Amino acid sequence: MSQIDRYAVFGHPIGHSKSPRIHALFAEQTGQSLVYTAEDVSPETFEPRVWEFFREGGKGLNCTVPLKELAYRIADTLGERARRGKAANTLALMPNGTILADNTDGLGLVRDLTVNLGVGIERRRILLLGAGGASRGILAPLLELKPERIAIANRTVAKAVGLAGEFGDLGPIQACGFEDLAGETYDLILNATAASLDGDLPNLPEGILAEGGSCYDLAYGKEPTPFVRWGIRAGAALSVDGIGMLVEQAAEAFTLWRGVRPATRPVIEALNAERNAAA
Ligand code: ATR
Repeated sequence: MSQIDRYAVFGHPIGHSKSPRIHALFAEQTGQSLVYTAEDVSPETFEPRVWEFFREGGKGLNCTVPLKELAYRIADTLGERARRGKAANTLALMPNGTILADNTDGLGLVRDLTVNLGVGIERRRILLLGAGGASRGILAPLLELKPERIAIANRTVAKAVGLAGEFGDLGPIQACGFEDLAGETYDLILNATAASLDGDLPNLPEGILAEGGSCYDLAYGKEPTPFVRWGIRAGAALSVDGIGMLVEQAAEAFTLWRGVRPATRPVIEALNAERNAAA
């Protein structure tokens, strides 16, 4: 008797995850038969739970905060994107029984910006707020698109300096604190701090968004995040949250697992409609 293929997202906390909904929509759209669940898994229980999941026939996992670095360490094989960022959001069981780790976050962000939203990266001045795991996962794919430069601003400046050093071989990066930003302007400001999750906002000087510039919050929520609202107040041509990135990174993972690429636009539209209906 053939069993249905099982997938899951592990994270802590996980209650708010939209991933099961997204993968159910992908499966329906592509006619794939699978189950995708969300599990609250702490860093302490991560490793035994991963082995158990795959031993019991699981085919693939997504790993979210705070498990991405552990997911990177548990794998037998690393995809280039996971290796470069030292973090993984996707694990896949390979036909020979080994586990491959990949990171689809950066590509998800880049696709949402460039394909869905029409925001250019090439020759643009980009400001990245935050120097944690979320920033680490997106720097290489952003630099690949040849921005004029990327400034990383962080509350703890030393972490921004470390990240700039680690990725400096891929393109021009500078590091600074939020207060040092005054006097410069940026075409695209990305918020990769965890501040939004606490309803908070980094302390940003006025006038740093260039005319016609865009703001993008990697976080998302039922309501516009504090950073999305900041962007609107600053006169951004576009100020949006990361729901599109979430769907795009999920589509990359689904493609890796199933060998079929789902269309993302109808899924982003469905999630936005569900969000508006709940508001
Ligand atoms: P993640 O893996 O989600 O990126 P992380 O590694 O804990 O999480 O990093 C969180 C990022 O959000 C860091 O850049 C953190 O700044 P510090 O390095 O100074 O801790 C940033 N951050 C969290 N809360 C913040 C706040 N209220 N204001 C500004 N930055 C904040």
